[in-house]
Amino acid sequence: MSVTIKSTREIELMRTAGRLLEEVYQELGAFVKPGISTMDINRYGDRLIRDRGCIPNFLNYNGYPASICVSVNDEVVHGIPHEDHIIQEGDIVSLDAGLIYKGFHSDAARTYAVGDISPEAKKLIAVTKQSFFEGIKYARAGHHLHEISAAINNYVDQFGYGVVRDLVGHGIGEKLHEDPQIPNFRQRRRGMKLVPGMTLAIEPMINAGTWEVSWLDDDWTVVTDDGSLSAHYENTILITDGDPEILTLSSLE
Ligand code: MF3
Ligand code: CO
Repeated sequence: MSVTIKSTREIELMRTAGRLLEEVYQELGAFVKPGISTMDINRYGDRLIRDRGCIPNFLNYNGYPASICVSVNDEVVHGIPHEDHIIQEGDIVSLDAGLIYKGFHSDAARTYAVGDISPEAKKLIAVTKQSFFEGIKYARAGHHLHEISAAINNYVDQFGYGVVRDLVGHGIGEKLHEDPQIPNFRQRRRGMKLVPGMTLAIEPMINAGTWEVSWLDDDWTVVTDDGSLSAHYENTILITDGDPEILTLSSLE
């Protein structure tokens, strides 16, 4: 598959898909608290998406069994919600959600602190979020894709954290996963030249310890090999003639 450049009309639909997902996150983030189950989060997120006339794009994607990925503590991404997995004070909870609006996808992830969390956990969440913003400094027409990857990796390195290598960001549009793949780690090649109209999901996954991860026997949940905490931050963005437009975030919280 090749990279798709979106038309003005398609960009407008992508903007709406992004804005609706941001709305979902405003409700869903506030819902995460001690005592609820990861399945409660999935149910609520599914309803928030459908209430907006949209379709949850993760449900049944390659057989994924839920609408929202809920990954707690040492779970990196693609955690499967369960009724008996109860959120506890001190947890960090990564949510990954996406939706389809009139045929166009949006995709975003956030990591939330549940009540009081350790200073180490706070720092991991903040660094992961900032690494996205370091990356998108290079998300500009005329720059090359892997400048984004290097900027994320270089920023994270100074904290001694592990950058997950087994999963990457991606193009997005009429499909959830389009070309190109967008690694969060340095590459030997500079990658393709960025062009206005590209829509990209940039999603650093950062571990407090080793970058190495494994899959649980549910074939979805990715966990850190050393049991260290992991955080995730993702937005769908648009390459423009100037600054990148973050479609799933309208103001910097
Ligand atoms: N943001 C995740 C990704 O791009 C979404 C995974 S969808 C799932 O990989 F259905 F596979 F979980
Ligand atoms: Co994604």
